[in-house]
Parts: sequence; C-alpha cells; structure tokens
Amino acid sequence: MKISFADATLPKSGALAVGIWAGRKLTEAASDLDRRSDGLITRALSAAGRFSGKQEELLPIVGVSGLEGLSQLILVGLGDPAKLDALVLQRVGGALQAHLAKVGASEATFLFDALDGAAVPAAQAAAELAFGALLRSYRFDKYRTTLKEDQKPSLKKLTLALPDKAGARKLFERHQAVAEGVFLTRDLVSEPANVLYPETFAERCQELAELGIEVEVLDEKKMRKLGMGALLAVGQGSDRESRMVVMQWKGGGKEQPVAFVGKGVTFDTGGISIKPAQGMEDMKWDMGGAGVVVGLMKALAGRKAKVNAVGVIGLVENMPSGKAQRPGDVVTSMSGQTIEVLNTDAEGRLVLADALWYTQDRFKPQFMVDLATLTGAIIVSLGSLNAGLFSNDDALSDRLISAGKAVDEPVWRMPLGDAYDRQIDSDIADVKNIGGGREGGAIIAAQFLQRFVNGVPWAHLDIAGMVWSKKDGPVAPKGGTGYGVRLLDRFIADNYEG
Ligand code: BES
Ligand code: MN
Ligand code: ZN
Repeated sequence: MKISFADATLPKSGALAVGIWAGRKLTEAASDLDRRSDGLITRALSAAGRFSGKQEELLPIVGVSGLEGLSQLILVGLGDPAKLDALVLQRVGGALQAHLAKVGASEATFLFDALDGAAVPAAQAAAELAFGALLRSYRFDKYRTTLKEDQKPSLKKLTLALPDKAGARKLFERHQAVAEGVFLTRDLVSEPANVLYPETFAERCQELAELGIEVEVLDEKKMRKLGMGALLAVGQGSDRESRMVVMQWKGGGKEQPVAFVGKGVTFDTGGISIKPAQGMEDMKWDMGGAGVVVGLMKALAGRKAKVNAVGVIGLVENMPSGKAQRPGDVVTSMSGQTIEVLNTDAEGRLVLADALWYTQDRFKPQFMVDLATLTGAIIVSLGSLNAGLFSNDDALSDRLISAGKAVDEPVWRMPLGDAYDRQIDSDIADVKNIGGGREGGAIIAAQFLQRFVNGVPWAHLDIAGMVWSKKDGPVAPKGGTGYGVRLLDRFIADNYEG
C-alpha cells in the first residue's frame, strides 16, 4: 500500500473518509462536505443507529449521491478531541485500513481539516493515522500460490489530504522507516523453520549492509575459539550450523554504544527434553527476540538515528539427535562459568549467556537490553498484554517503561533477588539452567541471565507472550506482531540521541 499526502481538496474517485467527533459532532472537513452534498452526512447520521463518533467507530455510506465519482464515504469516529493523541490516531488508521481492505476498496482519501482542539496538530495527526494504517496493512503472502478473490490485497493507495501536506510527509518519513523495521521483524517470525535457519537468518541480516549497517557473521569455528560452549551445546543436536550475527550502526559520536541482544532459536523442539507435539509449530517464532533486534537495527539505520547501536543475535536450532546435548551435561560458557544443563528445553538462556557475555566483553556498552521468547511462565504471569521486564538498573527500567507506554507496547517490571538466584546453584557446576520446580519460572530464567552480564546495566525483556498473535490487533493483522521494534526505537529516540 502506498501512502501519499495531498492538498485538502475533494478527490474525484475512490473512497473518501472524514472525521466525526464524539457525540456526532462534525469535524470541519465533514461539515464542509455536508454542505456540498445537500446534507448527506447529517442525513446518514440521523439514520445511523448507534454510531456516535467514538474512537475507531466507522460508518460506511455506499451509493453516495452528490459526490461525483466516489465509491463510498466513510465517517470515521475520532472520539473526544482532547483525547485524540498519536496512539488513538494510529488505531483509527488501522481500523480504517482494515475496513477498506475488507470491502475491496482500491483507493481512499482521508480529508483532514485543522482538527481544532485535538491533542496533536493536524500534520502530526495525518502522519500518525497513516502510520497506523501502514502497520495494519502488513501481509505475509509469500507461500500462497493462489489467492481467492476475497483474499487479494485491494487497497493500493491511501491519501491523506490536508493543508500542511509537507509537514505531514516529513513526520511520516520517520514512521515509514520504523514500519520497515517492524515489517522485517514480522517477516522473520513468519518464516517457517525449514526456510529460516541460522545460516539463512544470517544471510538476511547481511542485506542490512545496504543501509550502512556493519554486519559480521561468526561461524561455529569462530565461536568455539571464543569459548561459547553454552550456545554451541544448544546447536550441536542440529544438522544446521549455529551462527552469531553482530550488527553495528554508527550514527552517533564518540560515546560508547547501546547494545541489544536477541535469542534466535530458529526452531525449539526442546531437544532431548522434547516438547509435546501440540503447539510445537509455534516454536518457529522462538527467534522472535533476534527478529526484534534485526528490525530495530533496520529502523535505526532507515531513519539515520544519531546513536551508536550494536545488535547481537545468537542463532541456533534446538533439535534432538544422536549428537544432541543430554540432560545432566556440563558445558563451559564464554564467561568461564560452567553450566549444568538439567533441561535441554531451557536453551534460550544458554544462547543468551554467551551472547550477553560476548557483547559486554567486546563493546563495553552503556547498557545491554536483551529480548527473548524465554519462558512459557511469563505468559502465565502477564498474558499477551505486557512483556516481562527484569533489570539490575532502575533508571534503565523506567526509561523502558515510559517508552512502552508512549508507543502502546507495554512492559511490566518483575522482581529479581538473591533468594531466587540461589535456586540455580548447581550441585556439580557453577550454575544449573533450571530451578527446582515450575514456580517463578520467568524470574529464575532472568536470574540465570544476570549471571552473565558482568555487572553491566542490563534489562531483559521476556517477550514470549508478545511475538505472535492469533487474532488481529488494532495496528497488526494476526501473526507476527513486530512487538518491541517501536518500543526500542522510541526508547533510543527519547534517551540516547544527541
Ligand atoms: N521457547 C520456550 C519458551 C516459550 C514457550 C515461548 C511457549 C513461547 C511460547 C523456551 O525455550 C522454553 O522451552 N522454556 C521452558 C523452560 C523450562 C524448561 C524451565 C518453558 O517455559 O517451559
Ligand atoms: Mn525451549
Ligand atoms: Zn526456546
């Protein structure tokens, strides 16, 4: 779908959308149109039953008379002007996009006025609405060889018509770069594991070099030399070789970089501690954390962020085989700490142990944020409405929480503590990879990671409940959500750019 910005004039074809405030109050653009069409809007509203102009409410009017060439007019609820902020506008854009796509419209124009009284200026309003529509328009059709008529993408072009089209376009450019990052993340998590495995994932990362990102790929030989015995142990049961990818965006000055680390388990069978068959297909998106890191790097480079950012992802496939690690094995991590692997399905923490240690050791970052679909337990705790945040640093946590609120990708802080930490002391090694039982599973996993951050300010986001959605959301169709890219982009923009 192409998004464009044009002068505030009536289009000659396609669908037309105008805003209606709460309580059926016409926006300026709507009342203009009402005058030109002999009261079409007033009449429609009086016949419209419950439509009242609430946020995201839509009232499509087909067979419009008096508006030459237009296929339909859509009255779009904007709610209370004082509450019309960026997030509401994104959701309205998403709702409108979904409607237009569903009815098979090919072109549409949203006619804006100054939106007097709205919480944001009209140029920003148009850019936010466009952003929401764009995010919602994502599709993953790569593996469909035929599309039924009602499955074909119809909406080719969405135009935002307003007086300050140049201002809106400028604001939108940045959103577009972020949306491209989100789409890359969604593409990666949507790919099946026979197509996306460590080597092919690394190849996809190498494409980011075009944007000015430095990309290095570490193969198994290199990782063995570095002593990454924990990560390599996870991958050893697979016929696919493991990889680590290091991405650097150098948009800042001389300051130390900020670092993002992702769990990239391209498929998690559980290994010898094998998972039940039911739902195992979901484990193709066990590389979701790595997917966010890559999408974030793309977004930062795309909008030329003034920051030095490092992205490190550990890519492995967790398979059972004659070469696979066994429960009870002891492995040596890059940090030198030995790990007793009591459950081969607690593999993400083994991958991150080496990725985190490597990142702080090589880059001496200001902080590290890792992202991982680490535990089922975090889904039990928080459902799919918040990611779990675990951190050794209050300031870092507060910044992540605020950024999450600002973009509607919320995080909820969870505790860490010595009493939890003691539960991963091993009888025969320095640490074991699971606690005694199922209690506090997401916290135990975070305690394990903390042993590999070497005291560097660190935050861990357990995004197991956030990566994939079985139903459509306001700005994402069902499937890969891309959760985390907007959150971290905002976190950087608000705190780490000059
Ligand atoms: N990738 C899973 C966690 C997961 C589960 C993500 C469901 C998304 C949906 C992780 O590797 C895992 O298997 N964790 C185990 C840990 C346990 C063995 C201590 C879990 O959560 O059951
Ligand atoms: Mn697992
Ligand atoms: Zn996993």
